[in-house]
Amino acid sequence: MADKVLVTREIPAAGLRLLGDFDVTVLSEKPPERDELLEAARGASGILSTVTEMVDAGLMDAAGDGLKVVANMAVGFDNIDLDAAGERGVVVTNTPEVLSETTADTAFMLLMAAARRLGEAERVLRAGEWDAWGPMQLLGPDVWGKKLGIVGFGRIGQALARRASGFDMEVVYHDMRRNEEAERDLGVRYLELDELLETCDFVSVHAPLTDETRHLVGEKELEGMKDTSVLVNTSRGPVVNEAALAEALAEGRIFAAGLDVYEEEPKVHPGLLELENVVLAPHIGSASIETRDKMAALAAENLVAVLRGEEPKTPVTG
Ligand code: GLV
Repeated sequence: MADKVLVTREIPAAGLRLLGDFDVTVLSEKPPERDELLEAARGASGILSTVTEMVDAGLMDAAGDGLKVVANMAVGFDNIDLDAAGERGVVVTNTPEVLSETTADTAFMLLMAAARRLGEAERVLRAGEWDAWGPMQLLGPDVWGKKLGIVGFGRIGQALARRASGFDMEVVYHDMRRNEEAERDLGVRYLELDELLETCDFVSVHAPLTDETRHLVGEKELEGMKDTSVLVNTSRGPVVNEAALAEALAEGRIFAAGLDVYEEEPKVHPGLLELENVVLAPHIGSASIETRDKMAALAAENLVAVLRGEEPKTPVTG
């Protein structure tokens, strides 16, 4: 009998096609209810999950002893309990690299939109409030030639640095580890976090969510930023203290923000929803047609490899 595979959300056909040898259940387009998820997982050898599912001990136990692999269709894996997986001998995989360029595009898009007030400008126009070109209308800071601080200098952070160089920006970064090779290749400088925050015109966050990075940018850090600066977050919501950010934006302590991720998705801090100086996207960092195909295919390839007793391409844990 074919192994049972649970795909927790509707995913691109590029991924599903690769699962043809298995007994596949695809749950809904919307995030499944927990009960539905537990029920559907029963007897699964592999789970292809997304960021909306909490893959914890309870879900792994619902699948049972036959569970061999959790293939997350995301580069981040904070939704997966790695200890629980390790204890059960379940291999966890993710989808790095294939989404780096697209997510860096999203970060740069938010950076520009927040600086140049695109969301606010469009709201003015759609409300029928645009009556004439205005010499003083909707002014925001230039992006080109400014100083960009990248917090978290992995693949996505580095892809952002490459984009920024096309805008003649000075790029600095902070990471838990210095990367001198990337510094040379990309012409960027390492700074401690507080100096980066104090001196940059733009700050873009690309750190994974861990115990160390939760609220990495909080009240104190926001306080240290220039009041003309723009903060962008396309990593994970809890890396930035959302309530503190809403307050800083409301009080004009920073100029604007561009966010793609939130602390309690799909909830957004109500304070943010009222503000003009924040561009809010619904976690679409990797949402290009090509990239979602690649993510689905890579997640499926990883899952299939483990079920065939082979090495997956991109394991998080062995
Ligand atoms: C999406 O958020 C991802 O981690 O790929």
